[in-house]
Amino acid sequence: MRHLDRQQLTELLAAPVFHLIGEVADEMHLEAYVVGGYVRDLFLERPSKDIDVVVVGSGIQVARQVAVRLGRHAHLSVFKNFGTAQVKDGALELEFVGARRESYSHDSRKPIVEDGTLEDDQQRRDFTINAMAVCLNRERFGELVDPFDGVWDLEDRLIATPLDPDVTFSDDPLRMMRCIRFATQLNFEIEPETFEALERNRERIRIISQERIIDEIQKFMASDAPARGWELLFQCGLLEIIFPELYALHGIETMNGRAHKDNFWHTLEVLTNVVRAGGDLWLRWAALLHDIGKPKTKRFDPAAGWTFHNHNFVGEKMVPQIFRRLKLPLDDRMKYVQKLVSLHMRPIVIADEEVTDSAVRRLLFEAGDDIDDLMLLCEADITSKNQQRKQRFLDNFQLVREKLVDLEERDRIRCFQPPVSGEEIMELFHLPPCREVGVLKSAVKDAILDGVIPNEHDAALEFVIQLHRKRRGN
Ligand code: CTP
Repeated sequence: MRHLDRQQLTELLAAPVFHLIGEVADEMHLEAYVVGGYVRDLFLERPSKDIDVVVVGSGIQVARQVAVRLGRHAHLSVFKNFGTAQVKDGALELEFVGARRESYSHDSRKPIVEDGTLEDDQQRRDFTINAMAVCLNRERFGELVDPFDGVWDLEDRLIATPLDPDVTFSDDPLRMMRCIRFATQLNFEIEPETFEALERNRERIRIISQERIIDEIQKFMASDAPARGWELLFQCGLLEIIFPELYALHGIETMNGRAHKDNFWHTLEVLTNVVRAGGDLWLRWAALLHDIGKPKTKRFDPAAGWTFHNHNFVGEKMVPQIFRRLKLPLDDRMKYVQKLVSLHMRPIVIADEEVTDSAVRRLLFEAGDDIDDLMLLCEADITSKNQQRKQRFLDNFQLVREKLVDLEERDRIRCFQPPVSGEEIMELFHLPPCREVGVLKSAVKDAILDGVIPNEHDAALEFVIQLHRKRRGN
C-alpha cells in the first residue's frame, strides 16, 4: 500500500470527469465524493474500472447533468427504485447514488432506505477499506474522508467492518463471502471480532442466492492463493453450509492403528500446487474436486487398510450435481473437470507399475488434448511427505511424459480418428448399419492402442479384412 496525501490524490484524480462531477455538484450546491472500491484501489495501486460516486442529495440529478455535459456519446440509465443512476461513456462507467441510511429487516436483503449524511452512507458499507471517500467539489477536491480509519486497516492489511460486524453481516450476509474473498485476494487478515461474527452469522448465508455466492468464490479461485479462501470458509463454518461435499473430505479416521490422510487439507495442497504450476480457473476446479468421491467410497479393509476404490468414478458422477447446485457452467468446462476427475488416478497407476506403450497410448486416447493438464494435476497430487516416495512417483511421471511425446510423434493418438470409418466397413463387407460394424471398428481401435498395428489406413484395412474373415469362420 502507498500513502497518499491530498495533493497526490488530486493528481491521481486528474481525469477530466472527476472535475466535471465536482463542477456539476458545486452548481447544484451538493457534495460529491468518489467512494468505495475505487478509492481503496488507488491506495493499493490496483487497476479499477468502475467508479462509484456518492452525492449528499440526489445522485440521479447529478448523474443526469454529468451525462449531458459529457456529450451525446454518454449514455444514462436511471434506476429510480434504487435511487441510483449509471453513466457510460466509452470505457468509462460511473455509478451515482445519493448518500443514504439503511436499515434491514431480519429475513430479507431488502433494506428500508432513507436519505442520509456522508457518514451514514460510509457506515452502511461493508468494510473500512471500502468505506473511504474522496471529495470532488472544487474547494475540497482530493480531500480524503475516512471516519473508520480504512487507511490504517490498509496499512495493517486488515479486513474489518465499520460497524459492529454482527450488524454489517446480518444486514447483508453476502458480505461474509466478500470478507473471505477480499482477505484471499488481497492477502489480508480478518480482524478477530469480524472473524467471530462470521462464525456467529454463518447461517444467514442461506438467504443469499447461489449466483452471488459463486461470484465471490470464482473471484478468489482466480486469485494467487485460492486455498486460503477455502481454508477461511472451513474455519468459520461457512463451508459446511455452502459446500458440504468439500467439507466432508475433512477428518482423519484411525482403525487398528492405521490412519488415512486428511483429504481436505490434501486437496488444498493439490490446489496450491496446481496454481504454482500455472493452472487456470478450471484446472483449479479439477484440483479442488479430484478427490470429492473419497468420503462416499471410504472402506477399511483389515488387510489393505483404508481404501477409496473407484473414488475417481464416483467423483466424476458428483461433478454435474455439484456444478448444477453451485451454479457453475454446465458446458464444456464442466465436462473438462469431469474428465480430469475421472482420469486423475491413471497416470499414477501407470507410474506405479511398468510404463507400457499400450497403457500410455490408452491414456492419451482418453485424455486427448487435456493430457498436459491431466499430467499437471497428477504431479500436483503427489503431496507425500516421504521424499523418496515422492521422487519415485515424479521420476515415473517423467517416464510417462517421455513416452507420451514419443508415442505422439509416432502414432498421433491425441486427436484419434479411426483410420477406417464405419461407412468404409459397411461398403467393404456389404453390411447394413449393425452391431458387427461397431465390433469391427472398436477392434481396430484396440489394435492401434495396443500397438498391434500402426495408426494408418492401409494397416487398419488389412487388419479389419482379416478379422472379418476370421469372425465369419473362413
Ligand atoms: N458494498 C457493500 N456491501 C456489498 C457490496 C458492496 O457495502 N455487499 C459497497 C462497498 O463500499 C464497495 C462498493 O459498495 O466498495 C462497491 O461494490 P463492488 O463494486 O461490488 O465491489 P468493489 O469494492 O468495487 O470491489 P470489486 O470491484 O473487487 O468487486
